[in-house]
Amino acid sequence: MKAPGAAEFVPQDAGLDELRAAAGGCRGCELYRNATQTVFGEGPDQARVVMIGEQPGDREDEQGHPFVGPAGRLLDRAMDETGIDRNQVYLTNAVKHFKFIERGSRRIHKQPGRTEIVACSAWLAAELDLLGPELVVCLGAVAAKAVLGPAVKVTELRGQLLPAPDDPAYRHEHSEHEPPGPDYRVITTVHPSAVLRAPDRSAAYAAFVADMTRVKTALDGSDSHKMGRPPVTATRAPDT
Ligand code: URA
Ligand code: SF4
Repeated sequence: MKAPGAAEFVPQDAGLDELRAAAGGCRGCELYRNATQTVFGEGPDQARVVMIGEQPGDREDEQGHPFVGPAGRLLDRAMDETGIDRNQVYLTNAVKHFKFIERGSRRIHKQPGRTEIVACSAWLAAELDLLGPELVVCLGAVAAKAVLGPAVKVTELRGQLLPAPDDPAYRHEHSEHEPPGPDYRVITTVHPSAVLRAPDRSAAYAAFVADMTRVKTALDGSDSHKMGRPPVTATRAPDT
């Protein structure tokens, strides 16, 4: 029996352009029905960093590109201020279709749930496999759950440089796309939209920039070599 979700739409051994084209026809969950189009990730295929948002917003849904609305502008500004090179960044979302409810003529963003995150995870896994980034930046709780598992709390993790999950199985539970195992590191921060909505916007922005500074530092610390996983504690005594 075919597993539900995007997995059956993900072409094997495909490049980024083929993945993007295939994602345009994804019917892996119900979200394709009401959204305008799939919004796939964008950026250089040599990107060292993959930044993951939640899902396309209203503007992204109309234009078909990630982070082209207000949240994207805030993210751009934070990257500029911290000196993160945009040519090294691939931007994508945990969920590739806009989820919303209609209120009059307005479309109100609705946070994707576990079903949609899991359904869409095969696309994210395929992007990460193909790009093999050094660093993955989770922008907000939905991205963090997609990468690190459903139990994560952004408030506890934000700004920390973490190894990729040892067991990415939950990400691939509905995917036939099994990578050898991720060797990137992960930094989680809040979603740029949360900064825009924060009661104290300048404090929230400063904290966001502080997290982005850690991204920059992590990249600078590994200029000449690919960041490996941190050393694994020996599980048995050395040979005697
Ligand atoms: N918010 C997101 O999470 N992603 C986008 O692409 C735009 C806004
Ligand atoms: Fe497919 Fe993801 Fe869109 Fe659902 S949200 S239809 S899984 S691309």
